[in-house]
Amino acid sequence: MFSRIAGTGSYLPEKILTNADLEKLVDTNDEWIRTRTGISRRHVVVPGETTTDLAERAARKALEAAGVEPGDVDLICVGTTTPDLVFPNVGTLLQRRLGIHGCAAFSLEAACAGFLYALGVADKFVRLGDAKCALVIGADTLTRIVDWTDRSTCVLFADGAGAVVLQPAKEPGIISTHLHADGKYKDLLLYPDGVSLGFDLMRAGKAGVRMKGNEVYKVAVNTLGQLVTKTLAANGVSQSDLDWLIPHQANIRIIEAIAKRLEMPMEKVIVTIGDHGNTSAASVPLALDTGVRDGRVKRGQLLLLEAFGGGFTWGSALLRY
Ligand code: ACO
Repeated sequence: MFSRIAGTGSYLPEKILTNADLEKLVDTNDEWIRTRTGISRRHVVVPGETTTDLAERAARKALEAAGVEPGDVDLICVGTTTPDLVFPNVGTLLQRRLGIHGCAAFSLEAACAGFLYALGVADKFVRLGDAKCALVIGADTLTRIVDWTDRSTCVLFADGAGAVVLQPAKEPGIISTHLHADGKYKDLLLYPDGVSLGFDLMRAGKAGVRMKGNEVYKVAVNTLGQLVTKTLAANGVSQSDLDWLIPHQANIRIIEAIAKRLEMPMEKVIVTIGDHGNTSAASVPLALDTGVRDGRVKRGQLLLLEAFGGGFTWGSALLRY
């Protein structure tokens, strides 16, 4: 038994923040942001708009694309680091929005690798016969936890959601997923406050994503390079067999470095960072849905998905769409 993606969907908030808008907030400029990151603009939530709002829109589109009803869903697995509430979790809030009851619904935190983690977990449920229609989502509103006075991070992050519906299949589908983490890198990329720390920094107005960008960059390129090589080797697949690389959209230079490692021309890489920014757990399913809906990603093609995020956490999936 395998799982396969039966449908994809995504959603971006309506409000757009351009690099010119950011020039009014911090000492930065369009040229620096574009050349260092590849980002021109990004979508951001407005007051009152939540991660579950974005996840619901993406989920409904994925259900429609898969030709299934909310009532068919028997598992909801959401990768997010920016839940609406401490509890209930985003999966449960989404279940309520969809008007369904009883199925397992949860969220897991793996920063930007959240969707790959959610996909890896849901794939196992389907393979084991414990789910027949799994809704797998990556959704984040990272702009809610960005320090808008820190030019080295606030120009990077954005909001969005992407979703897939997984169903059982006799042939893959998802060929393999590879999930990893190394907590020794905690201090290179983190949000240094939380529930059990008492939110003291947040109350004092001193919280916000902290990142040693240069060091993150080096580890990300090296780690993702090894990950994609390992993913192909584990399946006896050569890079020339790949139709598309669908990478986490953190920085165009990281994406180009991984494409180079795979000897893949950029024409075979789905790149959305220019208009999406870094949407954290949403970035990979947003890129996948973009490629599916504009007709580049076709049924039967071989896709390599990868992501890297705070923790560090990282993961990949090789799949036949
Ligand atoms: N505008 C103008 N100048 C800036 C800005 C800005 N927005 N930000 C930093 N600078 C300046 C710095 O102050 C520094 O100036 P100095 O030389 O006078 O000291 C100079 O630009 C160079 O700074 P670097 O940090 O060395 O810039 P770098 O080329 O490394 O680019 C970046 C920074 C874009 C953050 C890059 O390091 C990067 O993409 N890192 C990886 C990010 C990532 O992959 N994160 C993981 C996923 S995110 C998640 O999990 C939530």
